[in-house]
Amino acid sequence: MRTRLVAGNWKMNPTSLDEAVGLALEVADGTASLPIRTVICPPSIWLHAVANTVAGSGLAIGAQNMHDQERGAFTGEVSPMMLRGVVEFCILGHSERRILFHETDDDVGRKVASAAAHGIRPIAAIGERLEEREAGLTEAIIDRQLRAAVRDVDVAASGLVVAYEPVWAIGTGVAASPADARAAAGQIRGILREVAGAAGEDVHILYGGSVTADNAHEFFGEAEVDGALVGGASLDGRQFAAIARAAAIGA
Ligand code: PGA
Repeated sequence: MRTRLVAGNWKMNPTSLDEAVGLALEVADGTASLPIRTVICPPSIWLHAVANTVAGSGLAIGAQNMHDQERGAFTGEVSPMMLRGVVEFCILGHSERRILFHETDDDVGRKVASAAAHGIRPIAAIGERLEEREAGLTEAIIDRQLRAAVRDVDVAASGLVVAYEPVWAIGTGVAASPADARAAAGQIRGILREVAGAAGEDVHILYGGSVTADNAHEFFGEAEVDGALVGGASLDGRQFAAIARAAAIGA
């Protein structure tokens, strides 16, 4: 059985160390002793302080991005060597990285493999844009992005997490329907089984896109949906804790 997993993607928030530490403490308190995995993904500059703040609480830490190389002339980038030991997880291929920072499927594949090779559990984010959905391309996009993300990784040894995040649902207040999430998660599970055999069963599949304390419970009941990747609502410690509690019901 896969333990449910709820991850918070803080994106480029909050803007001060005090707020970051305060939010982390609130989340650690609010999620303590729940029978699920909880993860917060602060901006890289706050990772150390937040990791120290919540050490021993059971709340795990993730980064939001990393470079695939260990070192070198990559101005502004963070290496897996710098993250290892600080974070357990790293979100890779988030649609904001793909769209705003022009990350390609190949980039995401390299990053996923590099994270796993450095003992960091990749949270590979995939999902279609609105125009792709309207053109009937949802399944094709999921297929292409997922296969590229896992192309060079040993799924069994990677601790891989896949987040299905339709771009049109991110930050819009318009979540996918539970049926859409189930369909995508089912497709993702099928591809993972094909690519990785039995190890495909161990991969956590998350839904992300306008998850709130009000709608979270709808997703956790769906087959193959093992949790959520939460953006906006993760910046409110009480709301994130409520989402984690919803995931704990029946877990
Ligand atoms: P949202 O973001 O919950 O604010 O829609 C989700 C994400 O980008 O991971």
